[in-house]
Amino acid sequence: MLDELAHIGRDLSTNGYVRDAWSAADLELREWFRGEAAKRGLDLREDRNGNLWAWWGDPSREPGVVTGSHLDSVRQGGAFDGPLGVVSAFAALDLLRERGVSPGRPLGVACFTDEEGARFGVPCVGSRLLTGVLDPGRALGLTDDEGDTLADVLTRAGRDPRDIGRDDETLATVGAFVELHVEQGRGLAAQDSPVGVAAAIWPHGRWRFDFRGRADHAGTTRLEDRDDPMLPFARVVLAAREAAARRGVVATVGKVRVSPGNANAVPGLVSAWLDARGAAERDVLDLVAELAELGEGADVSEESWTPVVDFDEPLRDRLAALIGAASEGGAPAPILPTGAGHDAGILAAAGVPSAMVFVRNPTGVSHSPHEHAERADCEAGVAALATVLEDLCR
Ligand code: GLV
Ligand code: MN
Ligand code: MN
Repeated sequence: MLDELAHIGRDLSTNGYVRDAWSAADLELREWFRGEAAKRGLDLREDRNGNLWAWWGDPSREPGVVTGSHLDSVRQGGAFDGPLGVVSAFAALDLLRERGVSPGRPLGVACFTDEEGARFGVPCVGSRLLTGVLDPGRALGLTDDEGDTLADVLTRAGRDPRDIGRDDETLATVGAFVELHVEQGRGLAAQDSPVGVAAAIWPHGRWRFDFRGRADHAGTTRLEDRDDPMLPFARVVLAAREAAARRGVVATVGKVRVSPGNANAVPGLVSAWLDARGAAERDVLDLVAELAELGEGADVSEESWTPVVDFDEPLRDRLAALIGAASEGGAPAPILPTGAGHDAGILAAAGVPSAMVFVRNPTGVSHSPHEHAERADCEAGVAALATVLEDLCR
């Protein structure tokens, strides 16, 4: 299945993927998902927020066990972040059928919309809208780089923007959620283990810093006459690194927009996006406050904030034990925290018993074309997921 998806949204000059939510690539991926559901005789539903659900059994009678992930990507992302969880969900379902298992509860495969937030800036839009933590009015007004709002983009994709928002009817179908994901660090490689289970997701957020100055001629404006927003911007970037190291967190400026963007002009506006994460919420929020103060009058706005998620302990321990028991040594699978955000974290925060299965990433590199997982490890992930689903669906 990954091979079938390999060409969609691929930038041949880099081998990276560009799969923005609701782009042509995303629509093709959604069609692929529908096709996979149809091939297996699953009942396909698209909820009011564009999330896709393929059901084996009827979850309106009894909440089901759901597995899946997302198909959108960061810009120039890898092939595994998201798609591995979706294809593994279908593959695990196939494996259960091969084993002759008939689940005692409905089993669903989910594809969440716009997990990465590459286009509109807010991550996990589909699951945040579903659970009501993202206000639909705010979501509809988010704009992409072309100035199109989410409302425009949904309308163009044939969806009714008035439909979006908290969806209790859909939420009621989800009795439990298990998301398989490529690991985005080297924890499993270090422990020589192909598969692990998530302990917690670090608190994380994105903040926009707008540094305003005055655009002027690069050759004729004396240094003392300039109001150059690039200077406070540069100070904040360097300070972010220093403050993150001091506070034991991570902070990243991965996106910058310089306006008007002339090589021969002092800029008038520099907009920069800070992503900050860490084990302790206080440290992350203090870092942002420190940088906002240093930013010399920059307008700072929070674009998203996700508090810490501690996955349900009995559930994660049960998964680790089950996966371990089905493996060679029999020892429980490793349980690891992560600094990456996931729809499973949003559902967990909304009270849905949720868990994550990680598949080893030999280099730990992610959000990059170099992201990788070995085929044998992916197969071990599918087998682990099938074992877990069989148990949860009993
Ligand atoms: C999603 O992958 C995130 O952690 O930003
Ligand atoms: Mn990602
Ligand atoms: Mn992901």
